[in-house]
Order: sequence, then structure tokens, then C-alpha cells
Amino acid sequence: MNLSVKEDLYDVKYHIRPPHGLLNDPNGLTYFKGVYHVFFQWNQKGTTHHNKSWGHVISKNLIDWVYLDPALEPKDWFDKDGCYSGSAIEYNGKLFLFYTGNVSTKSGERKSYQCLATSRDGMHFEKKGPILEHPKGYTSHVRDPKVWQDTNHIWWMILGAQTQDLKGTCILYRSDNLKNWTFVGPLMQSSPSLGYMWECPDMILLENKDIFIFSPQGLSPKGDFYQNIYQTGYFSGMFKKDGTFIKDKNDFTELDRGFEFYAPQSFVDPKGRRIVFGWMGTMKPELEQAVPTISNGWLHHLSLPRKIEWKNNHLYQHPISELHSLRKEKISIGDTLKRKKNLELSSPQNEILLCWNSNHAENFVFHISKEVAIQYSKDRKRFTVERTNWLTHKKETRNVILKNSLWHLQIFMESSSLEIFINKGEEVFSLRYFPQNFPLSIGFETNWNRQNSLDTIIYPL
Ligand code: FRU
Repeated sequence: MNLSVKEDLYDVKYHIRPPHGLLNDPNGLTYFKGVYHVFFQWNQKGTTHHNKSWGHVISKNLIDWVYLDPALEPKDWFDKDGCYSGSAIEYNGKLFLFYTGNVSTKSGERKSYQCLATSRDGMHFEKKGPILEHPKGYTSHVRDPKVWQDTNHIWWMILGAQTQDLKGTCILYRSDNLKNWTFVGPLMQSSPSLGYMWECPDMILLENKDIFIFSPQGLSPKGDFYQNIYQTGYFSGMFKKDGTFIKDKNDFTELDRGFEFYAPQSFVDPKGRRIVFGWMGTMKPELEQAVPTISNGWLHHLSLPRKIEWKNNHLYQHPISELHSLRKEKISIGDTLKRKKNLELSSPQNEILLCWNSNHAENFVFHISKEVAIQYSKDRKRFTVERTNWLTHKKETRNVILKNSLWHLQIFMESSSLEIFINKGEEVFSLRYFPQNFPLSIGFETNWNRQNSLDTIIYPL
């Protein structure tokens, strides 16, 4: 596989990016015959949203990825305009890929076919074509099959869909053999009114709670919420034996509070962990086409793998522990941040830990290059990330009111992206940024007399 992007200051070193061209959703996450497989939406021919194939990488440790040939390419009548998103499962020693074939007819009409491809070795895939009839009562926006098996050995397939009156929803099918599928109906008896289309649904069955994750399009901003072009979030509740989901009273909760995180997918790994990858990420078309990496022939990357956990009525996300292996050395910066307004970093890739040992954080502003400022206001427990928009050069912010006072921050930094984990996964902010000056630097503004229990550690990666 030719990793043919040109040398790029903004290249990512420990995230999955396309070999060249555009990447979007993670697809088909699975562990099969001793290796992790991650597939991703991939335009091999350019940096626009066309010609979607399934790119394919494998790894033994979720850290070092090997690029394989694309698993699916849009070459057949049922997927000629895109092998769209979907999922993978292992059954009887074979890998099954479920995906949506996107087709534009001569008259410009859209058709969606839910398709299957199988593989014995996890490298070569045989397309089996469409496996479902298009459901009645829904527009052609039906896509992104996610398949799982429940404890009664029933296979379920959830799909994002749009009703004839243009409302977002999800529908369900069931099967005993993965070949014949029966339409069950909408996932929720009365789907809450959330936009015009729900993409990339996922159902996570945990011990005492089920989590339904999806990515609705068409929500209007509301206070600190729904600030991005499209959203990703979840309802907690119960997935019942008849295939309906009864949601808790909790509102739709966004999974990530930053600027770029969309269309996540999860799987259970051999260690029993529920791991999620997302796409970093969806953005307004004019901003997307201004991303500087386009001149080097590539666009976007996936998030880090995150382990998810349900605790205190809330979904927590933790960077997986394997990421520790990226740490090259440990630098405790102690008093240096007090003395220096700007501390130059030896590497553009870092993991930065800020830990308030005996106390909670006082007010501060933490600068990462000139382009990003993280602010915390302790009275309201308000956490803000401000970045410079690379197209308009204006500042823009995302905010969250934390449940608990800030005591821990873990930041994964690349030269063009940040993933900020707050209070050990209570909230996460993911974003791209494009610094103008290298080497990158950090600075911490605060009243140091009060901030005295802070430990700061940098691990260059
Ligand atoms: C989400 C999405 C999916 C679709 C895919 C196409 O980002 O729009 O609904 O399958 O991307 O690339």
C-alpha cells in the first residue's frame, strides 16, 4: 500500500488517516483471527465526498497499523456510487461485512441497497449483493447497517433512516441465520423529533443499561448544545426482546463536546472492552475544503480508540491503556510553567497530563500554540475550548458545564488535532487546529498562589 501523502507539518503520527484522499466514518470494527480490523470510508481518488470505498487497516495492538488493499470498492450495480458505512461480525469462522450500496440513477434519483460481503481470511472479500428489500414508508435515505447478536442468539440489524415526512429515525431487522432478514419496525415507538436523518446507529448492550448511539442531522443549536454541523450522541435505556428501545428520561446527550467528532462505531474486543472510534470529523463544506492538508493530498483522520464505560448515569470515555506504549519519556514540568509564559515543546506529538492532586482546579487559561485556548471557570465548573477557525481566522468556542469540579486533564496532541479528556473521561473535546508557528508551545495563565497543587507532565510521543 502506497502511503503517498507528501511530507506534511500537519501529518498525524498515531491516528489512523487515509493513505491519501479523504477518510470519513470508521466501519466494520472487529477482531478476527488474531488481529484488529478497522475499515473506513475512503475516497481514494480525491479529497471530496465521492467514490467511497472501504479502506482497511489491521493491527495486533490497536497502535501499530498496517494498510491493506481496500476491502470494498464501488464497482457493482448495487454500490456503483459508493460502498457506504456499515459493520462487521465474525460468524462460523467467516467475516461478514454489512454495508450500504449507494446508487444514483440516470434520472438523479438515490437508491440505497443493504449489502453483504464475506471473507475467509479477512483480506479478500466476496460481494454477495443486496440482502434486504427497501422498507416501505421510508425515503431512500436508509443506510449504515450495524449488526449484533443478543444473548438469545438472535441477530439484529439497526439502520439509520428517514420517514416519508422527512424525519430522522432508526429501523430494525432480525435474523436467525444472517441471510434472511425480517423487518421489525422503528426502534422507538415514537421517535423523538431530532432532525431530518439519523446516521450511523449503534446499540451497545451493557450489563444494566443499553446505550443507543446515533448521529442526527438537522438539529438547531441550543445554548451550549448542537453547535456543530451534525451531532453525535446517545440515549440510555433498555433494548427489549421484541426489538424496541425504551429510552430513559435523559435527553439526547452529545458524546463529544468539541468541534470534530462524528459517526462513531463500537465493538467488543477480546479483552471484553467496548471500544469506540469516531471520525474527526465532519465540518461545514467550506471549512473542510480549506483544511491545509488537502494540498498534500489527504483529509481527515479517525479518533483514538476509546474504551467506554457506563457509570453514575453517564457515558465515560477513556483513551485505551495501550496508548501508554507511545510515551517516549516523562517530563515533569513543575515550576517551569510558572516562570515561562511560553514553553516550547520538543515534539509536536505529546500526551499532556494536568492533575490537581489534593484540590480542584482554580480558574485558568491554558494555551496550546496561538490557535487553541482551554479555559476553566471554577465557580460555574465551565470548561471552554476556543480555537482559531482556519478559514475565517475568527475565534470560536465550545463549552460544557462539568458535573464535577475539574481535577484531571489528559490531552492527546498531534500537530493538527487534539483530544482532551476531562476528569478521566467525564467529557471529551475533539478538534482539529492548524498552528502557524513551529515549534509548538504551551502557556498557562492563572493565579499561581491558588493553583499550587497542580502537577503537569508531558510525554513526548
Ligand atoms: C456519515 C455518512 C454515512 C454514510 C457515509 C458515506 O458520515 O454520511 O451515513 O454511509 O457517511 O460516506
